[in-house]
Amino acid sequence: MIETDSLSRSFHAPDGEEVFAVRGIDLRIEAGETVAVLGPNGAGKSTLMRMLSTLLPPSSGSARVAGFDVASQGGMVREHIGYVGQGNGAGHTQRAIDEVVTQGRIYGLGRAAARQRAGELLAVLGLENLAKRKTQAMSGGQRRRLDLAIGLVNKPLCFSWTNRQQAWTRRTAATCGITSSGSGRRRT
Ligand SMILES: Nc1ncnc2c1ncn2[C@@H]1O[C@H](COP(=O)(O)OP(=O)(O)OP(=O)(O)O)[C@@H](O)[C@H]1O
Ligand SMILES: [Mg+2]
Repeated sequence: MIETDSLSRSFHAPDGEEVFAVRGIDLRIEAGETVAVLGPNGAGKSTLMRMLSTLLPPSSGSARVAGFDVASQGGMVREHIGYVGQGNGAGHTQRAIDEVVTQGRIYGLGRAAARQRAGELLAVLGLENLAKRKTQAMSGGQRRRLDLAIGLVNKPLCFSWTNRQQAWTRRTAATCGITSSGSGRRRT
């Protein structure tokens, strides 16, 4: 499901020095597995996730996600993944339901299908009563739940999320069609 070979990403500091954010990562993650990437601030977690979600090209090495190469088949990778980044993905002025519907439409769902999927996800994530509320009037935790709904709208094969998403539970995963395997392991 996710395979990396010597995946690396470096940046150039203002003085020209090459600084490695991620160096030589070899991963083999099977379908149904959950992997938690832990590390102190600046360890390279977000850089790794940005490469796996095609937001950032690797400096060297390779990665395949859901069977597709992140460098040469980025569109196919994006079609099969859900990614919820560290910052809030939703804007401020749209209603919660509209954020999810818009994302569904971007993924090619028809108007009715997008509304149905949005309604299902908001219900599963406990946001049913906030569907018509603008995101600027939602709490931090409620906005993180909305971010999860946005990331799950396309029923991704592969789902990754970062920091502070306590909204996620095994029950939520099951209801969203994402299976868990083993104690404390979730699909990534
Ligand atoms: N665009 C960039 N240019 C230069 N350096 C960068 C850039 N993006 C990240 N870095 C550096 O790469 C390293 C890894 O950053 P990254 O954001 O991946 O860390 P992280 O593990 O996600 O940290 P956190 O727990 O704080 O979110 C850090 O030293 C960071 O300063
Ligand atoms: Mg980070």
